[in-house]
Amino acid sequence: MTVEPIRVSSEWLDLREPADGDARASDLVEHFRRQLPAAGRLVIHDLACGSGSMGRWLAPLLPGPQLWVMHDRDPDLLEVAASHPPGRAADGASVVVDTRLSDITRLCPDDLAGATLITASALLDLMTGDELAGLIDVCAEVGCPVLLTLSVAGRVELAPADPLDRCVAAAFGEHQRRATARGRLLGPHAVAAAAGGFRRLGADVLLRPSPWRLGAAHAGLAAEWLTGWLDAACEQEAELAAGVDAYADRRLAQARAGELAVTVDHTDLLVLP
Ligand SMILES: C[S@@+](CC[C@H](N)C(=O)[O-])C[C@H]1O[C@@H](n2cnc3c(N)ncnc32)[C@H](O)[C@@H]1O
Repeated sequence: MTVEPIRVSSEWLDLREPADGDARASDLVEHFRRQLPAAGRLVIHDLACGSGSMGRWLAPLLPGPQLWVMHDRDPDLLEVAASHPPGRAADGASVVVDTRLSDITRLCPDDLAGATLITASALLDLMTGDELAGLIDVCAEVGCPVLLTLSVAGRVELAPADPLDRCVAAAFGEHQRRATARGRLLGPHAVAAAAGGFRRLGADVLLRPSPWRLGAAHAGLAAEWLTGWLDAACEQEAELAAGVDAYADRRLAQARAGELAVTVDHTDLLVLP
């Protein structure tokens, strides 16, 4: 059983921010925009905001003044989020950030009262089924749209292919579903669980693919992602760790040279109550 929580570094979030922005499904933003109130300030709660990447991506796509309330349990990441706020709104209106040190699995509807939108990015697959069910109940009680982006969908593809890719991918998949002190993580089951949970409460749920497609222009991110992918797979399967050195050297050299194309599937989800 793994001891949690694992901290996420701001360097890693920094490195992935451009690829995250390219991957998120912007047509879901259009759906949400059509439902916006005609006037007044948008109040957006970003859950597990990390260094604030979601706000920097989304705030400039939305019109009107905005208050972003950014929640995370990591005070260092909240500090980065506060010091790198989003740019202005689509129509030039001001965007203000407020940070809250929170455990998002313990939020109650009052913590999110008055929200126009609730967002989270790269979060759902890190949750357990019970945690997600609790969050769905809280969001449903608040009653506003919810945009949940970049949840891992379980498929990873490397090109050129290598016979060992499948073994590493299988061990990585198991790692994403590992048992922790909080319970078993949802990993690639998270999107189906979230969509099912919101639909059972009567909400409309829209799903869109939001894959990372990393090539020569993302060599740094591809190499860092590959390192984490291999580490997780080897942590999961000790036998794999013994035989993967040459594979790791070869794949990392390809990634650093921009000679490895990596596709990591994600799914974005918009909930319209
Ligand atoms: C993969 S990062 C994603 C950060 C950000 N949403 C983004 O897309 O760049 C996951 C974030 O979830 C936060 N986190 C995980 N579990 C949390 C919890 N129970 N309460 C608050 N924050 C949590 C971590 O501190 C980290 O910042």
